[in-house]
Amino acid sequence: MDSMHAAPPAPSKRLDGLPGYGKGRAAGAMVFAHRLGSNEAPDAVDPAILSAVTSAMAGANRYPDLRGETLAAALAGRHGLNAAQIAVSAGSIVLLDQILRGWCDPGDAVVAPWRSYEAYPIIAGLSGATLVTVPLDAAHRLDRAAFLAAIGPRTRIALICNPNNPTGTALDADSLDALLAEIPADVLIVLDEAYCDFAGSASQVAASPAARLARHPNLVILRTFSKAWGLAGLRVGYAMAAPRVIEQIHAVQPPFPLPGVALAAALAALALEPAVTARIARNATERARLTEGLTAQGLPVAESQANFIWLPLGVDAASLNDHLARNGIAARCFAGEGLRITTGTPADTDAVLDAVARWRPNV
Ligand SMILES: Cc1ncc(COP(=O)(O)O)c(C=O)c1O
Repeated sequence: MDSMHAAPPAPSKRLDGLPGYGKGRAAGAMVFAHRLGSNEAPDAVDPAILSAVTSAMAGANRYPDLRGETLAAALAGRHGLNAAQIAVSAGSIVLLDQILRGWCDPGDAVVAPWRSYEAYPIIAGLSGATLVTVPLDAAHRLDRAAFLAAIGPRTRIALICNPNNPTGTALDADSLDALLAEIPADVLIVLDEAYCDFAGSASQVAASPAARLARHPNLVILRTFSKAWGLAGLRVGYAMAAPRVIEQIHAVQPPFPLPGVALAAALAALALEPAVTARIARNATERARLTEGLTAQGLPVAESQANFIWLPLGVDAASLNDHLARNGIAARCFAGEGLRITTGTPADTDAVLDAVARWRPNV
């Protein structure tokens, strides 16, 4: 048989039936004037970051930090931690993958509220673990009693996304702390805080990991530079945990997890915190305009603490998604459940409100 047509060896059965990344994205060939499908920051990269990246390029003939040590040290300073409590990687999604592969054996369980971030079933499936999903309550929030009840003898990881993607709902600090205190000490808690910058004051957001890690040696907190920090394209995420947990993450992680340019950009971004604070304030303004404008048009909108809003439209979600796409707006559709729209610029908000005013379901 000609080698082009011979069946290649089959991969692991773990790949069977995995949902696949980005399946909810609108058709790749379309060009959208309003890119509101991936919860990115809408504004251009700061010139200080561009200049740091350009300087770092001059050293691109050399390998970067073995473990991203310069960034880990800077992040430790920001959060009042020791550098041994931080692991960095090319996006927080990569750290989540490394944690699940490092801690789960086939047949183990990962418990997570659902609906949540669409990458979770893929990453859990690849690790061989079973994802045990716990439905959100009627207000699209984590259901504390049901979540705790789902944790059983095979549970290795309790995975909590706060604020939750795609609903934007969040547990406040006290409710989150009460929940963490009830999770058994032999379960690793992974707290995905990709959107936390949008939900609290800058000082709370910087200080909260140290207090929580001191109380819970079984806690890993994931953060990212992709959202409020505006660097999705450079792929920088980090994990904060007890040094023994970080050592194990490093054991799973290949060396040189971040290129020098990404390290330089993240370090430069850390020095620009006022710009991040301003971006978060702009997000709050546009989120309120979107929420109020869509509610006034009779649409259901969940209470969001993130840089996106969730419309639990059920069967009408696909119709609105198609209508927005025809109007040059990319959103993220979860067919039969709802539609997630990222908060963008004032012009993005205007475009969404204008398009929705002309939408008739199933037309
Ligand atoms: C909840 C959540 N966690 C993690 C990520 C991935 O972030 P990163 O770009 O750091 O991999 C995303 C990205 O959309 C997300 O929504």
